[in-house]
Amino acid sequence: VIRSVIRGVGAHLPKRVMTNADLSKIVDTSDEWIVERSGIRQRHIAGDDELTSTLGAAAARQALVRAGIDPVDIDLVICATATPDRTFPATAVKIQSELGVKKGAAFDVQAVCSGFVYALTIADNFIKAGQSKRAVVIGAETFSRILDWTDRSTCVLFGDGAGAVVLEAQPQHGAREDRGIISTLIRSDGRFEDQLYVDGGPGSTKTVGHLRMNGREVFRHAVQKISGVIEETLVATGYAADEIDLYVPHQANIRILDGIAKKLGVAPEKIVMTIGRHGNTSAASIPLALNTAFEEHRLREGSLVLMEAMGGGFTWGAVLARW
Ligand code: ACO
Repeated sequence: VIRSVIRGVGAHLPKRVMTNADLSKIVDTSDEWIVERSGIRQRHIAGDDELTSTLGAAAARQALVRAGIDPVDIDLVICATATPDRTFPATAVKIQSELGVKKGAAFDVQAVCSGFVYALTIADNFIKAGQSKRAVVIGAETFSRILDWTDRSTCVLFGDGAGAVVLEAQPQHGAREDRGIISTLIRSDGRFEDQLYVDGGPGSTKTVGHLRMNGREVFRHAVQKISGVIEETLVATGYAADEIDLYVPHQANIRILDGIAKKLGVAPEKIVMTIGRHGNTSAASIPLALNTAFEEHRLREGSLVLMEAMGGGFTWGAVLARW
């Protein structure tokens, strides 16, 4: 049995921090409203010189250094993003060249907020199939570039940033104690494609467009679909909810996270929460949260980690791994 072991994690945030007080000078909102409805206190906003690829490459570099793996040994670069530098080529090829990776393949994955879970699933399958030995999986976004800064119901919720992990193939015995990715599960349902979308692109306005969201519907589905995918993962792997050491959910809204914790009966201290500092960074939020947990020494060798997400599409999914 070949397992994908997570060797390192890294992250990178834009220099500029925008607080709720800063936002209240742009749109009719308040720190109180934003904190109460979302748990967000601040977010990072990319400057002109901070592209999705710039943030993604910096996060990947840190993950590679921590993994002790040379970029020349990487044979797969996957970038999950809904905010690529350009329509094409993929942001992943730019990151590939910035890292000095010369072999294998590089491509983007588009599953919005579920992008990192999708990208990890794809990388894990490449590794298990013997098509990759060492992969860099990145979640990188600059949502500030697709926000309607006159729409207070959406612009207060999102932020920019990037996170990355390095995976390495390792032969294992298939025991429960083995390190690496244990289970992956991804889902989508295109009937909901108009609940959360960007109103631009080559097939519509031919401009970049702005994010549009039916917040209430997204909220309702997020709690249902994320708790569903967690339960499915636990049943499939035979773990009980309290055997999971750390839950690392996509950071969309503190009320979604609280709702899931309540529904599943999970202790709040087992859930990594970075929404207050980063806002919703879409595909970057899980690797950013993983990096925070790592730096706070909450992720140790042997920790059982469950990552889960839901986003536009709708798409959703979960990955269970032993650190
Ligand atoms: N500041 C002040 N008032 C605001 C703001 C704001 N930033 N935004 C909206 N309001 C007002 C509205 O205009 C409305 O006023 P009205 O009653 O006079 O019409 C009032 O606040 C209530 O608005 P609602 O939309 O009903 O507020 P709700 O409690 O539903 O919260 C929110 C809105 C936070 C978007 C919520 O629906 C939500 O969390 N949805 C989930 C969306 C989400 O997290 N998406 C992330 C992307 S998807 C993902 O990652 C899973």
